[in-house]
Amino acid sequence: MWTPKGFIDEAIEKVKDEIKDEKAVIALSGGVDSSVCSVLVGEAIGDNLTAIFVDHGLLRKGEAEQVVNTFKDRLNFIYVDASDEFLEALEGVVDPEEKRKIIGKKFIDVFEREASKIDAKYLIQGTIAPDWIESQGKIKSHHNLALPSGMVLEVVEPIRELYKDEVREIGAELGLPDSIIHRQPFPGPGLAVRVIGELTREKIQICQNADAIVREEVEKSGFNKQLWQYFAALTNTKVTGVKGDQRDFGYLVVVRMVASVDAMTAYVPEIPWELIRTISKRITSEVSEVTHVSLSISDKPPATIEFA
Ligand code: XMP
Repeated sequence: MWTPKGFIDEAIEKVKDEIKDEKAVIALSGGVDSSVCSVLVGEAIGDNLTAIFVDHGLLRKGEAEQVVNTFKDRLNFIYVDASDEFLEALEGVVDPEEKRKIIGKKFIDVFEREASKIDAKYLIQGTIAPDWIESQGKIKSHHNLALPSGMVLEVVEPIRELYKDEVREIGAELGLPDSIIHRQPFPGPGLAVRVIGELTREKIQICQNADAIVREEVEKSGFNKQLWQYFAALTNTKVTGVKGDQRDFGYLVVVRMVASVDAMTAYVPEIPWELIRTISKRITSEVSEVTHVSLSISDKPPATIEFA
């Protein structure tokens, strides 16, 4: 019978056998897959694994601190604050696909720069079953990855056969906190796909502050258990509002809450009105740059889950 403990013991043995005394690196994002993978391989090869956490400056409020605090004493862990570099590369860019490309490329650059200091032979990846099944098996189980500088790493995927619910069970068995195990999916390019138009520090921060309120209220109400993702996006539109006895011209924030099983389709469930009102009131009173909050009610399709 499959048990988390049985899987962990076997995976640790396999990783030890494969990597022996060589060095390995992993890009740790704080998502459940890369977190479980990092801790699992850390248990197997100790400090021969270096977990690299690249902060692109597009994370949610408090997220970088949370990831650092969770892993700094548990892993050979490197935190790279590359936010200046990313924001500089994104200056003036408004097209969402271009943002994604720039972030993807920059991420590899930063990761490679750190990895090259380590003399690693292996790259650990948190690939899970749906990742390669959806690509019709195009991602081979044994392959090398050539990085732009010519550095070649052998890829090891210790949780390749698992599904998300199993990864969560393993994470719990490994003692990871609930905030990581049950974290809602968060896109690699981060808030770049939720802040419409050009990215500036100010706009990112407004989105972070509004989003923190959405997460806090949804989680407090328990409604998150019915949702796949719940967040705030910042439009590029300014609208008139009134604060105190003055007219104000501030941002329009959109709150999105969707239910889904696999993100291929998604729907907006009936949301408790009190929850929406509380979120709206808190955002307009606590995030001074926002005058208006609207609720997205479009399913996927035709809308996508993200805004960009
Ligand atoms: P969409 O917006 O396409 O999102 O309905 C479907 C799921 O994928 C996530 N998503 C991304 N994840 N890089 C990622 O790693 C991306 O560029 C990206 N775009 C969307 C999204 O959060 C949702 O769960």
